[in-house]
Amino acid sequence: MSLFKQHIDHLIDQTTRALEATGYDGLWIYSGHPENNFLDDMAPPHSINPHFKWWVPVPHVTSSVLHFKPGQQPIVYLHQPADFWHKVVDNSQDKWARYFDVRVVGHYRELPDFTAEDNHAWIGADELQPLAEKDTNPEILLHHLHFARIQKTDYEIHCIGQANELALKGHAAAKQAFYDGLSEFEINMAYLQACQQGQNQMPYGNIVALNENPAVLHYQYQSHQRIAKDQLKSFLIDAGADYNGYAADITRTYAFQPGRFAEMILLMDEKQQLLCQQAVAGADYVALHDQAHLYISEVLKEFGVLTCDPETALESGLSQTFFPHGLGHYLGLQVHDVAGHVSDEKGTPNPPPARHPFLRLTDQLRERAVITVEPGVYFIPMLLEQIKGHDAVNWEVVDEFLPYGGIRIEDNLVIQQGQSENLSR
Ligand code: GLY
Ligand code: MN
Ligand code: MN
Repeated sequence: MSLFKQHIDHLIDQTTRALEATGYDGLWIYSGHPENNFLDDMAPPHSINPHFKWWVPVPHVTSSVLHFKPGQQPIVYLHQPADFWHKVVDNSQDKWARYFDVRVVGHYRELPDFTAEDNHAWIGADELQPLAEKDTNPEILLHHLHFARIQKTDYEIHCIGQANELALKGHAAAKQAFYDGLSEFEINMAYLQACQQGQNQMPYGNIVALNENPAVLHYQYQSHQRIAKDQLKSFLIDAGADYNGYAADITRTYAFQPGRFAEMILLMDEKQQLLCQQAVAGADYVALHDQAHLYISEVLKEFGVLTCDPETALESGLSQTFFPHGLGHYLGLQVHDVAGHVSDEKGTPNPPPARHPFLRLTDQLRERAVITVEPGVYFIPMLLEQIKGHDAVNWEVVDEFLPYGGIRIEDNLVIQQGQSENLSR
């Protein structure tokens, strides 16, 4: 049986259970459609409803609807308008389509009457919501479906693996472009070229940061300025790729010259790999995040940035200054995939502890979940200012590292018993 067929059988099974548990007889899922910018006839790039692309692996589809009713073949109303302005691609004969009843729709008029089916739910963003409010994105149903999305099918793991393969080609090209002395903008172009994907296909805005810029966690600017080689210090790139609507999310950091920063990257890489080894089925991700703080504090002590022991750095909150984000998150149809803060399909809240407000994943790790492991250490002027003069910090050493910005190393893991699979190495 094909991986995709197994995947669809799994979705039929999971969705049937979710509908039974929440008292619905059926479900509509709308792909979404682009909406024009304010006072404009141009629309931003469209991001498809993740629930729709869970079923239908055509990332550019718009204005289409999936109808699921237990016991009947899922129907896809595939919108293919007569349009001489845009290229209309016929996906109705693709391989995926053989598992659906595909009905090509040339005009909105040909869509079914969504209100004619009794006791249905609707999942879709606010550009089209034909059902009553209580049946539109009902939270109770979303919790069931989001919880089901945590554990990936073999097909999904294959897709995230392929996205990683693509992204790793981009990362190799970007590394070369950095050592060639190119600008952030040019490095990003080299990345996209090697992945053979445009920026709009990327699962998130690429972070391409030279010298002090890695200290901006979601650095979104790409300078055209080349930096003279005797001034080049560091390069952080956080960039993924897309495969059938599934994301990769990988970060690498490089030093331009050998020296203390290059050695710090090596030590961070060792610690990151230790964390990956511990990210196995049953592990507590909050405890792993605490462990990351201890490792990072060890690195900072080793390089003379901190003078206190790692436990004190964690307990006093000092390590947060240098590692202010979470260790990682679920990955899948969305970069920050759903259900990171619940502990069951009913959506019982499992919020991050007060000391780690930005931790996106708080659960015990489940087999077949795909997660990121992305520890970082940064020299962020705004956060350092808040602890100015702290006596457990060697401020001369901080000044030494400020021009390098920071380090993040991020891999994508399929959680398994004993040893998880790293898709990014
Ligand atoms: N690229 C966004 C993240 O790593 O979470
Ligand atoms: Mn990332
Ligand atoms: Mn990430």
